[in-house]
Amino acid sequence: NRNIPSLLIEVLEQKLYLCYTEPKPPPATHENQAATYKVSFENMVESRRNEAFRSILVQVQSEQSCSDLHKYCSQYGEVKGMHHYSLPGSLHFVLVEFMHKSDVDHILNASSYINKKEVVPVRSPFLWFRAPKKSLQQTLNSSQPPCLMEMNRNNTPTAAELRNWMQGADSFSDQILILHRATSLNDLGSRLRFLTARQIELAVMGLFPQVTVLPFGSSVNGFGKAACDLDLVLLADRETTDTSDCRLVFHAKTLLTNGRTQVQRHMETLGDVVQLLLPGCSHVRRILQARVPIIKYHQDLTGIECDLSMTNMSAVYMSELLYILGESDWRVRPLVFAVRRWAREIGLTNPTPGRWITNFSLTLLVLFYLQQRSKHQGPVLPTLNTMISLAGSGDRRVTSDGVNCTFIRDVSRLCQHMASSARTLPNRENLETLLIGFFEFYSSFDFSTHAISLNNGMSVPKPDHSPLYIANPLERGLNVSKNVSHDETERLRIEFRNTAWMLESVALTPDKSSVTASQKKAHEVWGLTALFEAPQIAAKGRNIFYIPARKVSAPRIMDVSELFQENIEGDTSKST
Ligand code: CTP
Ligand code: MG
Repeated sequence: NRNIPSLLIEVLEQKLYLCYTEPKPPPATHENQAATYKVSFENMVESRRNEAFRSILVQVQSEQSCSDLHKYCSQYGEVKGMHHYSLPGSLHFVLVEFMHKSDVDHILNASSYINKKEVVPVRSPFLWFRAPKKSLQQTLNSSQPPCLMEMNRNNTPTAAELRNWMQGADSFSDQILILHRATSLNDLGSRLRFLTARQIELAVMGLFPQVTVLPFGSSVNGFGKAACDLDLVLLADRETTDTSDCRLVFHAKTLLTNGRTQVQRHMETLGDVVQLLLPGCSHVRRILQARVPIIKYHQDLTGIECDLSMTNMSAVYMSELLYILGESDWRVRPLVFAVRRWAREIGLTNPTPGRWITNFSLTLLVLFYLQQRSKHQGPVLPTLNTMISLAGSGDRRVTSDGVNCTFIRDVSRLCQHMASSARTLPNRENLETLLIGFFEFYSSFDFSTHAISLNNGMSVPKPDHSPLYIANPLERGLNVSKNVSHDETERLRIEFRNTAWMLESVALTPDKSSVTASQKKAHEVWGLTALFEAPQIAAKGRNIFYIPARKVSAPRIMDVSELFQENIEGDTSKST
């Protein structure tokens, strides 16, 4: 429906955009700009899955090949969108989204292999765009039309850019918003994750026509950063309606009596399929002894590290729970991002699993704290028990191994409940107050005797001797932070205290005399930047009070992590 002038304007804007090199900080979205329409988790996942059904991923020579690719793809269907990204080694890729799923079938039917005798002839939505034959190349060179399709690009800021943006912000709260907006998983990141899941789904579809490979964890719960890993669960069959009337039944192999052994055997086979047959999948590792057996692999074409499991539905419902809590108040995600980044910057978290706290546990700490604000201005978040009591008939979910994951799914109804049940006015504290409150709250929290429970939003006496106990909200009796050692808990406690003290001494506002953004950038570190850089500043003998936690030796009572050696060797985050 677009006319020629508007198309020309778009092309011009596109060219201007390409010429414009200095990246801009994302706008710091405020409360009143936050989206009012709430998409349910299931609808969000369904719509992302449909995007993946309609998409292919094409490796191209360079960005210049994009218009040629657009023209080529348009012969097979209507192209809805094109998204370009590159990976180290000057590898360029374009994710092409068609209007219809059938367009993908058409283009895949018309695709081939470079040399069928030398490759495993697997069909997948991962392709590459080879150079045209010589005769066609000449025609293309002489009449190459500009690509009128708006090309989305993957813009993730460098550490230096992010620092400059935060230094140039107007307030501490804005710094937190900028951090969130600049580092969270973007649209292309989500698309690539769902397409990566689709590859596995397509690979086993012949055996299991109803198969679903669902992303969970930070890729879908709204707490994911740009390069987060991809947690996947393969569900071989979907819950179906009553089939007792069917006269024809499938012949099928009998399941082993030991369900765990069965899953391990299937995972082993799946690991072989991923390793031997699927394009782009490398570094396949089978971690089958963990409580939840997983296959780790790297998808080289999307640049994503994947953890594939089976029968882990409670983790999917956990992602849904986190998604709903993130959606229910605009301050939740920025705060979680600030805390997770802080932990990463000062070395509390580590990308490899081990005895340290995970991002997931940190997220639960923030959510618990936000349930606790009742002593101040009222809670920001409801307790899980409240969410369970508000569940409607359509919210009932029980996993195949009996874990009850029933809670309210309608975010708008949950928000209405929070607003109407507030004793006075709903909590309106800004991000600065909430983040400072977070560090104060955990500085005085007694981790040695108390556990965190999101179910009733209160701390409870620890049920065992784990150094850090965060009760799994859905699987009662499990400790999410069972992997965290005594030393790491001690470090965590000290870092909370250090940061709370430090927040009393660092500047929380930019230098008022600096008028322009560049003047603000040049000004001494302040706010969030100071928080992240505290250890380095302390090391240089600057004027900030900071006790490096590493130097504080914790009493060694007993190395509890050895009790969970199986988990440490496997994937601690999935095995607690
Ligand atoms: N999970 C869980 N119980 C645990 C550990 C994890 O239910 N003890 C679920 C959560 O839904 C979590 C997901 O598994 O979000 C993935 O775990 P993990 O990858 O460790 O955390 P993420 O939230 O994905 O964070 P990150 O960005 O660090 O991957
Ligand atoms: Mg994850």
